Amino acid sequence: FSRSILRRGVRFVSFDAAAQPRIRIGSQAPNFKAPTTTGDIDFHQYLGNSWGVLFSHPADFTPVCTTELGAFAQLKPEFDARNVKLIGLSAESVKSHKEWVADIEEVALGGKKFTFPIIGDESKEVAYKYDMVDEEGFKNLQAGQQIFTIRSVFVIDPKKTVRLILTYPASCGRNTSEVLRVVDALQKADSKGVATGVNWVEGDDVIIPPSVSNEAAKEKFGSFNEVKPYLRFTKA
Ligand code: BEZ
Repeated sequence: FSRSILRRGVRFVSFDAAAQPRIRIGSQAPNFKAPTTTGDIDFHQYLGNSWGVLFSHPADFTPVCTTELGAFAQLKPEFDARNVKLIGLSAESVKSHKEWVADIEEVALGGKKFTFPIIGDESKEVAYKYDMVDEEGFKNLQAGQQIFTIRSVFVIDPKKTVRLILTYPASCGRNTSEVLRVVDALQKADSKGVATGVNWVEGDDVIIPPSVSNEAAKEKFGSFNEVKPYLRFTKA
């Protein structure tokens, strides 16, 4: 512990809670070691050279979160196909997670195995480090009280850069297709140097970024459709 952390009596071990962490798009995803349902992990080692989707829950056996974990588990082959490792987090023990996973296998997977790890973040240290805690929970956390909502999604690229952050209230289930869609959009942007418009899905035309001149666009993409000088579509 640093002396300042001890002096203020803060309960986190690896950072000073008085300095609220902020994670932004473009931040390096903080590393951590944690117990999970598939064994202890070092987060960066777990991700390796893959993309990662880290998504969180405040507690086990919560109804909305149960549907979400089931849906992510059903879509795991799609994430695998995109070189994305899934990892959940819930602010309870691994022992409790394992009992919850048995329910998820029963209600969402037709008895098939749930195969990606769920972090046991009992201390809520990872949730705090990743700035997943809502306003009320943040105040309660400082006072050592119960947290209500920890419901974020982080898309992390193979360089461990945070590329997308979504945070949801307790009452609204996440859209797993949207998470898959933004992974596709990010990977398309990285591999082709393009942008993607509203509701883009694989197969749709993409947008040529304004930084690319018409001459360069012709050379790079062949033909393109100039709707406006600043709005040019092409295939990629
Ligand atoms: C849920 O149903 O998943 C849930 C309930 C209360 C707080 C957060 C999540």
